[in-house]
Amino acid sequence: MKLRKKIVAGNWKMNKSISDGQDLANGIKRELAENCDVDVVLCPPFTLLKSVSDIIDMTQIRLGAQNMHWESDGAYTGEISAGMLRDLFCHYVILGHSERRAMFGETNQVVNRKVKAALARNLTPIVCVGETLEERDSGAYMKIIETQVRESLEGIGDDFEKIILAYEPVWAIGTGRTASPEQAQEVHAGIRAVLTEIAGKDVAEAIRIQYGGSVKPANARELFGQPDIDGGLIGGAALDVRSFVEIVRAAI
Ligand code: PGA
Repeated sequence: MKLRKKIVAGNWKMNKSISDGQDLANGIKRELAENCDVDVVLCPPFTLLKSVSDIIDMTQIRLGAQNMHWESDGAYTGEISAGMLRDLFCHYVILGHSERRAMFGETNQVVNRKVKAALARNLTPIVCVGETLEERDSGAYMKIIETQVRESLEGIGDDFEKIILAYEPVWAIGTGRTASPEQAQEVHAGIRAVLTEIAGKDVAEAIRIQYGGSVKPANARELFGQPDIDGGLIGGAALDVRSFVEIVRAAI
């Protein structure tokens, strides 16, 4: 089995003024100054990308965005392209987050177009999948997640290895209710089995799958200790230096 480097990403969502965001990024940079064996990514809102990019320049911390459009330019009022994100030294982009799927109508097909556009510009997509509470209770959650994975990643060919997946059960996001390590591991292993079918065992073993949904310092270590959980996508707990840094350390 290939050793996968853990990756912890902070999804700041629509939070933080410029000065508060700079404080947060500076605090994280101070605490994580020494190289650690975890990939750390900060995903602030668009308004903070430039400031955070400047702060983390020359460090091991990488920059990510929370969304992008699939076209490279043109008349798409209010949208941002992959090339624009690269201009700001973004390395990652979160795609298909459940909030975008639920509130902004993003389908697997939309996510797929964005994934392809991100890869074409050398941005690493963090592709989010996950079931709602109803879907979990129905028992058919793995089938639903499988469809999300297959359709969101359709036709990406040789670029498969560049993808990161994030399993985020919708019922665990921002609710304080985390999937148990066993529940999360079950789905992560299921996703890896789907990836094996699509891309073969070697590629599937190399792809990192983050867990997201109410990850906190108190539960991070146990979650990250599961064999198929390769780090976390952190929302609420990423807005505070101490809790985010503790979560990163739990991945070491
Ligand atoms: P949460 O959010 O950690 O606040 O639950 C996770 C996410 O939405 O990525």
